[in-house]
Amino acid sequence: MADCAPIGVFDSGVGGLSVLREIHACLPHESLFYLADSGHVPYGEKSAEYIRERCRGIADFFIHQGAKALVVACNTATAAAVADLRERHPQLPVVGMEPAVKPAAAASRSRVVGVLATTGTLQSARFAALLDRFASDVRVVTQPCPGLVERIEAGRLEDDETRALLAGFVRPLLAEGCDTLILGCTHYPFVAPQLRQLLPPGISLIDTGSAVARRLGSLLLERDLQSEGPGIVRFWTSGDTQLMTAVLPLLWGEMAQVEYYPG
Ligand code: SIN
Repeated sequence: MADCAPIGVFDSGVGGLSVLREIHACLPHESLFYLADSGHVPYGEKSAEYIRERCRGIADFFIHQGAKALVVACNTATAAAVADLRERHPQLPVVGMEPAVKPAAAASRSRVVGVLATTGTLQSARFAALLDRFASDVRVVTQPCPGLVERIEAGRLEDDETRALLAGFVRPLLAEGCDTLILGCTHYPFVAPQLRQLLPPGISLIDTGSAVARRLGSLLLERDLQSEGPGIVRFWTSGDTQLMTAVLPLLWGEMAQVEYYPG
């Protein structure tokens, strides 16, 4: 039976648009509602309890909008809140992010893998469990990236300060011999081209947006929740609607109306 209800996708800000574009490409018939919690970004340095409260409110908003599934398109929010959301809404498929440790460990030839992520993700029990499970035979070097999310939120992908920040983050990873770098925050794929310019040939960048889209597709199929379309896409932000409207063409590829989420 077709189910044209929307899928609620959210992030601390606009980073989750990197996941939304993969979902839209993989499941073009689905209606996608995207919420950027930009009034409260970044999540990376905030307490897990604070992030859980934000996520609870956003999930309630999407459920009120009739959502049939949720995607936590934020690594930090997944680490802090995905278990809580699944417990509160057992009827709803809830898909989260996870740094791509397993594929990176399989791909690395130098056996040294770097992880770029927020402090919240890197210090989480979920990340520690991921390393225990998939990184027993590689060395993992972690790199928090303070300040980067804020620059991407402002659409400042190309400027000199962003490039200098990125150079400072990758230098220690290269010095340690990493040949595979995990983008462990959904904001970071937006600076992948700038990162590639800083890396010598043969260094791979890995993110999980397309894997999350495929996982969502299988869950919808399993539960008979697929839509036959036509799909629509709507946007909300808890931050500045004009700023998000201005960065959408850069990060989403087209103009769209952005509504205010007061939660
Ligand atoms: C942040 O808000 O600090 C980044 C969110 C993420 O981990 O994707």
